[in-house]
Amino acid sequence: MLLKMQYHLSIDAKVLLLFLVSANFNCSNTQSWIKAGYHHAGDFPVSDIDSTLFTHLICGFAYINSSTYQLLINSSTQQEFSTFTNVVKRKNPKVSTLLSIRGGREDYSVLFSLLNQSSHRRSFIESSITTARLYKFDGLDLSRVVPRTSMHTASLGTILNEWRAAVDSEAGKSGKSGLLLTMALYHHMQVMDTVTDPIDSIRKNLNWVHLVAYDYYLPKEENFTHPHAALYDPISNGTNTNSRVKDLISRGLPASKLVLGLPYHGYGWTLVNPNDYNVGAAASGPVFTKDGSMSYKFIKWFIKQKYGSDAVPMYNDTYVVNYCTIWSSWIDFDDVEAISAKVSYAKKMGLLGYNVFQVGNDDNWVLSRAAGRLILAYRY
Ligand SMILES: *[C@@H]1O[C@H](CO)[C@@H](O)[C@H](O)[C@H]1NC(C)=O
Ligand SMILES: *[C@@H]1O[C@H](CO)[C@@H](O)[C@H](O)[C@H]1NC(C)=O
Ligand SMILES: *[C@@H]1O[C@H](CO)[C@@H](O)[C@H](O)[C@H]1NC(C)=O
Ligand SMILES: *[C@@H]1O[C@H](CO)[C@@H](O)[C@H](O)[C@H]1NC(C)=O
Ligand SMILES: *[C@@H]1O[C@H](CO)[C@@H](O)[C@H](O)[C@H]1NC(C)=O
Ligand SMILES: *[C@@H]1O[C@H](CO)[C@@H](O)[C@H](O)[C@H]1NC(C)=O
Repeated sequence: MLLKMQYHLSIDAKVLLLFLVSANFNCSNTQSWIKAGYHHAGDFPVSDIDSTLFTHLICGFAYINSSTYQLLINSSTQQEFSTFTNVVKRKNPKVSTLLSIRGGREDYSVLFSLLNQSSHRRSFIESSITTARLYKFDGLDLSRVVPRTSMHTASLGTILNEWRAAVDSEAGKSGKSGLLLTMALYHHMQVMDTVTDPIDSIRKNLNWVHLVAYDYYLPKEENFTHPHAALYDPISNGTNTNSRVKDLISRGLPASKLVLGLPYHGYGWTLVNPNDYNVGAAASGPVFTKDGSMSYKFIKWFIKQKYGSDAVPMYNDTYVVNYCTIWSSWIDFDDVEAISAKVSYAKKMGLLGYNVFQVGNDDNWVLSRAAGRLILAYRY
């Protein structure tokens, strides 16, 4: 069996990378750099989160009650939501917290019917603000919203206007600083010609947007290995992070409102021919798990079992992806090189920061430290 691993990034390359990043530092940028992370309630102990590595931690996910349109938090995670802010602030009193609401679970019918009626939107907005204050969150995040028709787009714009007005009015009445409002944006350019994101409303009403920059290509849908979160892609026009960022900016969303999503997971693909294991090799479906998805922590553990603890996965800087082969499978994921390259990209493009999905999948905070460390270089 060939050892399909190599040490990739030399010390020199790392120094050069830091230098290039520093050279792009923009002193006029007064907005502070955001280092955010999602926590999936129930998946990982909150008290184990190293909150010193983050400026914002987002606890997900609340849902929407289909009869009242109020926030719905599963009783099994209620306690975790209610104590999340206090627990993460113990290690880092400066960290801000957001409560994330998933618009769609399996289907979007509840969300779309919420968007559709002003009385539903009012119940939703009021209960979201009440819940955030009750549990001491600093903000609210709306996730998994993919408009399907131009009517959805219009009503998404409307609810963002109403939400912002309600948040501002509550802040005025309570004398507290206003809740942050953010949204996780799945920006699919393929559908952009018929349905557009409500960019104007997003720009006016949200503090920032979390760009969901992963899961572009999945082993259950493709016949060829393809990085699921490529930063660049010489073949596929559009389905890569750089194209999406540029497209959003060209549609009027300021770069300074974009926070780049970084995946702490990868995918296992079954190779048709184990000796053909590059990007674009023939593949025949997911491996190891039902959809092939695996946490970074698990992938690193797996590599260690197979190749020993000194093994370093391969890195393709054309796509900005790490990968390795284990038996007749190909695993693509973001290791330190890919994460670092994406963070310096975010800085270079003048984005507002990054947002990892999800903190519990890190391996001893290796990725979160790498992402944070690169930025430290700017201050000197
Ligand atoms: C939704 O709210 C109704 C009315 O308060 C309640 O009876 C129902 O149990 C809630 N649904 C869920 C799934 O919690
Ligand atoms: C609540 O969480 C449990 C355990 O994760 C799950 O089995 C159950 O379906 C969830 N209930 C609702 C109403 O989502
Ligand atoms: C609500 O949805 C219905 C059916 O889809 C549609 O006919 C109607 O125009 C929508 N109303 C609003 C205010 O969007
Ligand atoms: C990919 O696989 C699907 C299902 O197995 C098949 O229908 C399709 O023709 C394949 N596409 C290519 C380009 O090989
Ligand atoms: C990629 O897409 C952009 C925007 O749709 C278009 O202007 C450009 O010509 C495309 N490039 C290629 C190589 O297809
Ligand atoms: C990246 O992958 C592409 C496609 O397989 C290949 O052509 C290119 O040489 C690879 N680049 C590196 C640096 O490995």
